[in-house]
Amino acid sequence: MNFADSEIVGAILTKEHYTITKDIDQADYILINTCAIRDNAEQRIRKRLHELKALQRQRQWVKIGILGCMAERLQKQLMEEEDNVSFIVGPDAYRKLPDMLAHIHDGEKLAETLLSDSETYADIDPVRYDTNGISAYISIMRGCQNYCAYCVVPYTRGRERSRDPQTIVHEARELFEKGYREVTLLGQNVNSYRWHSENGDVGFPELMAMVADVNPLLRVRFATSHPKDLSDELLQVMARYDNICKCIHLPVQSGSERMLKLMNRRYTPEWYLNRIDAIRHYLPDCSITTDVIAGFCGETEEDHQATLEMFRKVRYDYAYMFKFSMRPNTYAEKHMQDDVPDVVKTRRLEEIIALQGEIALENNKKEVGKTFEVLIEGVSHRSEQQLFGRNSQNKVIVFDRGDMKPGQYVNVRVVRCTSATLIGEVEK
Ligand code: 5AD
Ligand code: SF4
Repeated sequence: MNFADSEIVGAILTKEHYTITKDIDQADYILINTCAIRDNAEQRIRKRLHELKALQRQRQWVKIGILGCMAERLQKQLMEEEDNVSFIVGPDAYRKLPDMLAHIHDGEKLAETLLSDSETYADIDPVRYDTNGISAYISIMRGCQNYCAYCVVPYTRGRERSRDPQTIVHEARELFEKGYREVTLLGQNVNSYRWHSENGDVGFPELMAMVADVNPLLRVRFATSHPKDLSDELLQVMARYDNICKCIHLPVQSGSERMLKLMNRRYTPEWYLNRIDAIRHYLPDCSITTDVIAGFCGETEEDHQATLEMFRKVRYDYAYMFKFSMRPNTYAEKHMQDDVPDVVKTRRLEEIIALQGEIALENNKKEVGKTFEVLIEGVSHRSEQQLFGRNSQNKVIVFDRGDMKPGQYVNVRVVRCTSATLIGEVEK
């Protein structure tokens, strides 16, 4: 999401004749787009700010701005604590940036952190930088109001709002015409996407179909779904289109009914497994990935075992696994105790990571011998002689280069694997 937001900021500023540089020694302004989801994300930014002091001693006119969720969460406090920060801008205030940069004087500090009920940056054509020219993100909605007990996002990104579907389709079409072959539709909770209009409402399944109809050679992905409202209708649309990728990210967070209740996730393990069954029913070759939190408030050994059991049942293809980090202002911070000792959190996290590693390897071994259509993304990081791409299930496949180019589709037969990568041969 921050990646997509940085592209919007890039567009807002280049329109006002600023240019983007990747060379920090050329920069007059350094904008840092930040995340507030866990404490360590914020600590990394604090460290980075400290490191930048040396650069500012040499080039004293350089101004540093903090964008995104950390700016929203800490507001002026951040500028008081970090003396080398000149301006802070929250996720809904990026349109103010050109005006701020034009008017900020040396020694002055500015802040814009008002959240909006309507800002979607729908009319802004993001500047794609740091891109492979093949895949791009399209933000389709902003904000979240699910208020999971551990999560800071509803406070930093504000209320849910959806973007006009016509602008989304237009952006997808333009990307396709420029040579892009894959778009990922982004939102904190894409299943809540809804656009009201006189000609009827557009929900997320209809939006997916509209984007998939742009061109059969344009792959469509999405993130993230909330399990409580993953509908059969969406799965049916996914089954209907070959170019909608067969990969669903469905954050489980915990396998324990008690924990899910305390987390305010509004589903039970039983409901979650029912959604997994529905995915397997409509999309037998779909990969499933997840997010999980180890050591949330009050988590017992039994709750942790329930999470491991959930992993064994679902057999995820990939998981983002985190230790619980208490975030200020959340429901958990106000009403619960961060009572699982850090060593216990670490041990539980390591157990989940170890189990998931085994499962991912076993899943990948089952792919050996199968042939997949792969969209080539670029040259392999390990060898100039190899290319890499992804299949519909979002698994990375590496294969010999031959005379093929990024952006092409090729059929690749898997001959070997690791837990993270498939290694294949191109089918002639
Ligand atoms: N501590 C640890 N992980 C968290 N996440 C969100 N909030 C926290 C927190 N306070 C994780 C969830 C979410 C992912 C984006 O980050 O798993 O799905
Ligand atoms: Fe946070 Fe829950 Fe919203 Fe995801 S759904 S962004 S975890 S509040």
